[in-house]
Amino acid sequence: MKKIGSEGMKKHLNHPVFHTIRDIASELNRETYVIGGFVRDLYLERPSKDIDIVTIGSGIELAEKVAKKLGNLKLTVFKNFGTAMFKYRDLEVEFVGARKESYQRHSRKPIVEDGTLEDDQNRRDFTINALALSLNKESYGELLDPFGGIEDIEKQIIRTPLDPLITFSDDPLRMMRAIRFATQLGFHIEETTFEGIINNKERIDIVSGERVADELNKIVMAPRPSIGFKLLERTGLLKILFPELQVMKGVDKVNGRAHKDNFYHTLEVLDRIVPNTDNLWLRWSAILHDIAKPTTKRYDKKTGWTFHNHNFIGEKMIPGIFRRLKLPQNEKLKFVQKMVGLHMRPIVLSEEIVTDSAVRRLLNEAGDDIEDLMTLCEADITSKNPEKVKRYMRNFKVVRRKLKEIEEKDRVRNFQPPVTGEMIMDVFGIGPCKEIGDLKLAIKDAILDGEIPNEYEEAYAYMLAKGKEMGLIPVK
Ligand code: CTP
Repeated sequence: MKKIGSEGMKKHLNHPVFHTIRDIASELNRETYVIGGFVRDLYLERPSKDIDIVTIGSGIELAEKVAKKLGNLKLTVFKNFGTAMFKYRDLEVEFVGARKESYQRHSRKPIVEDGTLEDDQNRRDFTINALALSLNKESYGELLDPFGGIEDIEKQIIRTPLDPLITFSDDPLRMMRAIRFATQLGFHIEETTFEGIINNKERIDIVSGERVADELNKIVMAPRPSIGFKLLERTGLLKILFPELQVMKGVDKVNGRAHKDNFYHTLEVLDRIVPNTDNLWLRWSAILHDIAKPTTKRYDKKTGWTFHNHNFIGEKMIPGIFRRLKLPQNEKLKFVQKMVGLHMRPIVLSEEIVTDSAVRRLLNEAGDDIEDLMTLCEADITSKNPEKVKRYMRNFKVVRRKLKEIEEKDRVRNFQPPVTGEMIMDVFGIGPCKEIGDLKLAIKDAILDGEIPNEYEEAYAYMLAKGKEMGLIPVK
């Protein structure tokens, strides 16, 4: 990372927004700074669109004047928090008066008083987030770094400005933020700060599930999410927030036979899927694909360790996990369930001779999510044996080729049998009954097994013949 002095910083404060703030702050004779994440990201050379402005006095008043000057921009004011925000081009600019805060033990809601810039910097979460750049005329672009934030950026360290006990008990969400920043930036959490998390971990309970979920999702979307999950585990937060993942850690040994550590395997799969997908939910599928292994684990004298039906049991566990982690209860949940339920199929398929009918069935069940399923399965191959890996990858290629061929030929992705239940009732003059379901399933099986093509005529003829076998007589 390049070191940028205050001269260098000035050029980053060239945007008309900063010039306008400078001019108005000067008119009001008001100390004003840009602070927090935006400044940190300037030094890290990560482009950021969120600008936090802190002023000694009313943030709302300054925001009103700046918004007016920039062209009567729409201003959103949060009176309770003393903040105001506007959007200007692609930037989001938020204003706040410098504050001194003290927190109550059982709430994240602080008691707020006016304060100096230093008070404001003191109450921030990490040294790298407490940097401020002056927007005052006489010192424009000057850096105010009371806690050595720049040095910590250079050393790649996450550290609280005050005693971590204070910083974390003031706002326990910061424990998640520390781990999230360490994961996103590849930084190291300094020892005392790390211990501060361990000592305050139970306080995570007062943080809303939604905020925790936001941080978890940011960890999942980072370049190497395993860093975050390992930190969550080592600090004890994982056990509190996500015990199902925690219990995957460790190996059992019976008669000298051990199974693999499913926690580390899961994290490897997660890291492996990252370059192949930006889909948060496919990444969650990687996290959850083996989640039922601890509950389904058995030792068999002959075959060794087994995890029978862990895919189906896992699929059933996911709604509860999603509810607790405040993850969505909609089609995203369904997607993850589907991925987990089906994640063994391509592997099983690739171990056998790849028959058309097995491919048709897989294609029919996975529907449009087939590509994602294959991506998950490929990431799931974490064997250290290069021969084994080669063989799997080769077989997956065959499965992929077959999938393409069959899809083009039979169009069985998302297909519904061309003969409906209504038709069956109509033809045989019967009301709703079990036979209709049996007949529909028989037709679907016949198509998927390649006995008949996926066409109306053939399916209709098949229905008549099969109905007859079942003792049904057509009335038409
Ligand atoms: N902050 C804090 N404690 C929190 C949240 C935020 O001290 N729990 C402070 C930090 O100084 C932070 C600033 O508020 O830099 C802005 O917070 P936010 O926009 O949430 O985060 P950023 O640091 O900008 O990072 P990101 O946008 O990646 O969340």
